[in-house]
Amino acid sequence: MSHHKLFLGWNNPGKALITGASSGIGASYAKLLAEKGFDLILLARRKERLQSLADKLQTDYSIRCEIISADLANCEEINKVVNYIHQVDNLDILINNAGFATVGYFADVPLEKSMRMFHVHMTASLQLSHAALQGMLKRKRGAIINVSSMGAFLLTPGNVLYDATKSYLVTFSENLALEVKDKGIRIQALCPGFTRTEFHEVGDFKNFDRSVIPNSLWMMPDEVASLSLKVMEINKKIVFIPGWKKRLLKWIILHNSTIRKIIQNKVRERDLG
Ligand SMILES: NC(=O)c1ccc[n+]([C@@H]2O[C@H](COP(=O)([O-])OP(=O)(O)OC[C@H]3O[C@@H](n4cnc5c(N)ncnc54)[C@H](OP(=O)(O)O)[C@@H]3O)[C@@H](O)[C@H]2O)c1
Repeated sequence: MSHHKLFLGWNNPGKALITGASSGIGASYAKLLAEKGFDLILLARRKERLQSLADKLQTDYSIRCEIISADLANCEEINKVVNYIHQVDNLDILINNAGFATVGYFADVPLEKSMRMFHVHMTASLQLSHAALQGMLKRKRGAIINVSSMGAFLLTPGNVLYDATKSYLVTFSENLALEVKDKGIRIQALCPGFTRTEFHEVGDFKNFDRSVIPNSLWMMPDEVASLSLKVMEINKKIVFIPGWKKRLLKWIILHNSTIRKIIQNKVRERDLG
C-alpha cells in the first residue's frame, strides 16, 4: 500500500525474518516492520500465537506473513531454518531476537538448559546471519539486528551464560559491521534493559517479582523496538542501548567498580538468596 513508511530509503520493501516473534520485543518489531510494508516471516515455537499475530498484521497492513514454528535450541531445526533462508530471494531484514534467561549459579543450572541457551542465543544467531548475508551481499542491501542485553556489560552472579552469550552478540555484531559497512548492509546489537514482556514470566523467571525493579527503569517493548529501528535508520550506532537511564547506568557500571559490586551483590541476594 502506498501509505507504508519507507525504511532505510528502500522503496520496495522485501521480507523480514524475526525470531521470537510470538511475544514481547519480537512481536513489536513485527508490527513496526509491517507498518513499513515488509512481508514477514515470524518464527518461534508457539504456532498459534504466531498465526494470530500473522492474521492480524496481514489484515491491518496488507502485507504477507509466513510463520515458522521452530525450536532454535535444536540444531537440526536451526539447519532447517537456514535451508529455508537460502530459498528466500529478497530477505532484507533478519532480527535474531529469540531468547530466555535462567536462574542459578552456572554450576547448578542443568547443562542441558545452558546448552539450549547457547544454541538459541549463539548458534542460531550465527547460522541465520550467515545464511541471510549470502543474499544480502549479492543484492547489496540488508539489515541484521541481534538482540543482546544490558547484561552484556553488567556481569552479575546467576547470569553467567546469559551475560556471556549476550556479550558474544555485541562483539559479533560490532566486528561483522566492520566487514559489511561498505556493502549496503547495516548491523545492530540492541542492548535493552528491563522491558515489560513475557521474559520475566516464563521458565526460571516465572516467580520473578517485577516490583523489586523501580518502575522508572522499565520500558515497553514497542518503545524499545521503535528506538532500535530509528537508530538503525540514522545509522548512528552499532551497539545501541535504548533509554538514556540505561546508557547512564552502563557508563557508571563500566567506570565505577564500587557501584558495580553493589549491583552485583544486590542481584546475588535477590535471585540467589
Ligand atoms: N525483557 C527484558 O527485560 C529483556 C532485557 C534485555 C534483553 N532482552 C532480550 O530480548 C529478547 C526478546 O525477549 P522478550 O523480552 O521479548 O521476552 P519474551 O516476551 O519472553 O519473548 C521471547 C521470545 O523468544 C522466543 N523463544 C524463546 N525460546 C525459543 C526457542 N527455543 N526457539 C524459538 N524461539 C524461542 C519466544 O517464543 P516461544 O516461546 O513461542 O518459542 C518468544 O517469542 C531476548 O533475546 C531477551 O534476552 C529482554
